[in-house]
Amino acid sequence: MIEWQKLKEAAIAVRKNAWAPYSKFRVGAALSVADGSIFTGCNVENVSYPVGMCAERSAVAAMVAAGYQTPNALVIAAGPLITPCGMCRQALAEFAADLPVLLVSVDSGEQQETQLATLLPSVFSF
Ligand code: THU
Repeated sequence: MIEWQKLKEAAIAVRKNAWAPYSKFRVGAALSVADGSIFTGCNVENVSYPVGMCAERSAVAAMVAAGYQTPNALVIAAGPLITPCGMCRQALAEFAADLPVLLVSVDSGEQQETQLATLLPSVFSF
């Protein structure tokens, strides 16, 4: 069972830790796995702009570092409702071909359900 409310709260909470002095655009991401563990990530920008890391890939790194490889749900929280960037879609697809995704707007409270396969229909693989 996916604890969407808990996952949503985790994404909203970690977003507060985002390091985004350049874009001022804070993003939080939370991944859950089968045993209920939750892994979070926020965006971490850098004065050398391309060095910056997205929230979603930070969450993937936290999950993998903890010894898990199979996420079963993802929540992404930002000011407006956003979809993950292309690089993060590819990074997520490495570990879950069809991940349920909940997009949350912290500003409006609006939310939208989608899935990774819809966001990235032609994933690269070899
Ligand atoms: N960002 C994310 O963390 N996730 C996304 O899905 C899109 C963009 C970050 C990168 C950068 O720090 C800021 O948002 C503005 O692009």
